[in-house]
Amino acid sequence: MLFKSLTTLAATAATLATINAYPTAPPPPTGGVDGNSTAPPPSYTAMSDYDFQSLNLALNQEWIELDLFHYALARFSPEEFEAAGIDAEQQSLIEYMGNQEVGHSTLVQNILQGKGAKQCKYRYNFETVAEWIQFSATLTRWGESGVWGFLSHLDSRPAATLLVQAESVEARQQMIFRQFAGAFPMPFWFAPGISQAMHWTLLSPYLIECPAENPRIEWPIFPTLTIQNNPNLTAEGYESAVSTNRTAFVTPNTTSLYFQYDAPGQNVSYNNSYQTVFGRNVTSPIPTHCVFISQLNATNVPFNATGNNTGECIVPGGVVFSDDGVVNGTNFVALISEDVYVTPYNLSLLNDVIVAGPAVYISG
Ligand SMILES: *[C@@H]1O[C@H](CO)[C@@H](O)[C@H](O)[C@H]1NC(C)=O
Ligand SMILES: *[C@@H]1O[C@H](CO)[C@@H](O)[C@H](O)[C@H]1NC(C)=O
Ligand SMILES: *[C@@H]1O[C@H](CO)[C@@H](O)[C@H](O)[C@H]1NC(C)=O
Ligand SMILES: *[C@@H]1O[C@H](CO)[C@@H](O)[C@H](O)[C@H]1NC(C)=O
Ligand SMILES: *[C@@H]1O[C@H](CO)[C@@H](O)[C@H](O)[C@H]1NC(C)=O
Ligand SMILES: *[C@@H]1O[C@H](CO)[C@@H](O)[C@H](O)[C@H]1NC(C)=O
Ligand SMILES: *[C@@H]1O[C@H](CO)[C@@H](O)[C@H](O)[C@H]1NC(C)=O
Ligand SMILES: *[C@@H]1O[C@H](CO)[C@@H](O)[C@H](O)[C@H]1NC(C)=O
Ligand SMILES: *[C@@H]1O[C@H](CO)[C@@H](O)[C@H](O)[C@H]1NC(C)=O
Ligand SMILES: *[C@@H]1O[C@H](CO)[C@@H](O)[C@H](O)[C@H]1NC(C)=O
Ligand SMILES: *[C@@H]1O[C@H](CO)[C@@H](O)[C@H](O)[C@H]1NC(C)=O
Ligand SMILES: *[C@@H]1O[C@H](CO)[C@@H](O)[C@H](O)[C@H]1NC(C)=O
Repeated sequence: MLFKSLTTLAATAATLATINAYPTAPPPPTGGVDGNSTAPPPSYTAMSDYDFQSLNLALNQEWIELDLFHYALARFSPEEFEAAGIDAEQQSLIEYMGNQEVGHSTLVQNILQGKGAKQCKYRYNFETVAEWIQFSATLTRWGESGVWGFLSHLDSRPAATLLVQAESVEARQQMIFRQFAGAFPMPFWFAPGISQAMHWTLLSPYLIECPAENPRIEWPIFPTLTIQNNPNLTAEGYESAVSTNRTAFVTPNTTSLYFQYDAPGQNVSYNNSYQTVFGRNVTSPIPTHCVFISQLNATNVPFNATGNNTGECIVPGGVVFSDDGVVNGTNFVALISEDVYVTPYNLSLLNDVIVAGPAVYISG
């Protein structure tokens, strides 16, 4: 024993002498949060009601994705996929993406310490493989954008770190669905974020029955907004491709979108247990503007009322940087009662003035 520790001491002294002969790294740059050895061990849990409600909404999104990808493989035959240009290897990719959702839902449920939502029953309104692809491209867009919207507002930075590692994979799924539709995979330089209320407004119609013990989702649901002339990815008969030069769906500053919107007070979502509402500062049921949420921008354009709960807006033009047109890809449009200006980090302030929506706008 004594012999052994003497040997160890001698070895340690020799090692120190050797180590001192080498240069070592300088101390890290000052600042940062929890990025150096003074930080407490990270706790990957919800630290506030805001965290719990944001993560539980994200969990409901993971659950529907898990259902949707596997459901498609059960619902459509290999021949139907083939006929839509999705071959056997691409069908395996769908299976793989479904399995990724097993991991994502497990991760978020673990962060919520098992207190998050259980899986629900869902309603889908696609009939063909092409319509399923478009629905999946849309659903993954709002799932991804919903997380980008709250990620940097979470109290728990450790939870945010894990969530971004799941969501960056969902962003890839979103692009793969566009490729399955033979669309240009990413006609934008930046992916937009949306608020939790916008996300829940878009997701809520597809949940029809959930277990009674599921935590109530405390974000508001705004009245349904329908774009009567929404372009879609299924229309032109394109087949799966890595990339295509597809004709633009819109002419910015020229194309009009026609809207129909509901009044609030409808019983909606699973077990009809939620009710649609106006944003809390809405002062008139008639919107004044459309807000297009795309890339880094929330662009307000005047709303032209054309009847009871109908109206139109012209799709805005302009660029983000250089020649990157603002409105392209799958984005969001809502009707608002005030010309409120927001930027990505305070975008949720739009919630207060929403009359209806958002709707998903497939602009390219
Ligand atoms: C170490 O991180 C803490 C915050 O976690 C920060 O306040 C502190 O300034 C950092 N230390 C240095 C030397 O930068
Ligand atoms: C959208 O992006 C695609 C691909 O880059 C491009 O061909 C199309 O012109 C763009 N549409 C608009 C309206 O900017
Ligand atoms: C919704 O309805 C189903 C079927 O009746 C029931 O099992 C479930 O507990 C209900 N959930 C809620 C949240 O009421
Ligand atoms: C897409 O557009 C085509 C042609 O306009 C239409 O037949 C189809 O129903 C639309 N599909 C969806 C899911 O909106
Ligand atoms: C595809 O679009 C790009 C950019 O708009 C253009 O430069 C290129 O010539 C097009 N290619 C084909 C094969 O149409
Ligand atoms: C919504 O549900 C409540 C409570 O069940 C009911 O009293 C009300 O009539 C329903 N409203 C609509 C518009 O169906
Ligand atoms: C507003 O709607 C009316 C009625 O449809 C139409 O005549 C008018 O051109 C529209 N104005 C704009 C700016 O779109
Ligand atoms: C709006 O609704 C009122 C009452 O139902 C009706 O009298 C009016 O004609 C409607 N206006 C339009 C433009 O449809
Ligand atoms: C559309 O209008 C915006 C703002 O007025 C302008 O900056 C842009 O150049 C216009 N774009 C096109 C394609 O006309
Ligand atoms: C979109 O946002 C970017 C970044 O803030 C800005 O440079 C650009 O001018 C905005 N474009 C429009 C049309 O508002
Ligand atoms: C949101 O932030 C921008 C600065 O990025 C600010 O100009 C704007 O007034 C803010 N919006 C609201 C509604 O506070
Ligand atoms: C909405 O009203 C609340 C309470 O009056 C106020 O604090 C908040 O700033 C308003 N929101 C916006 C976007 O103006």
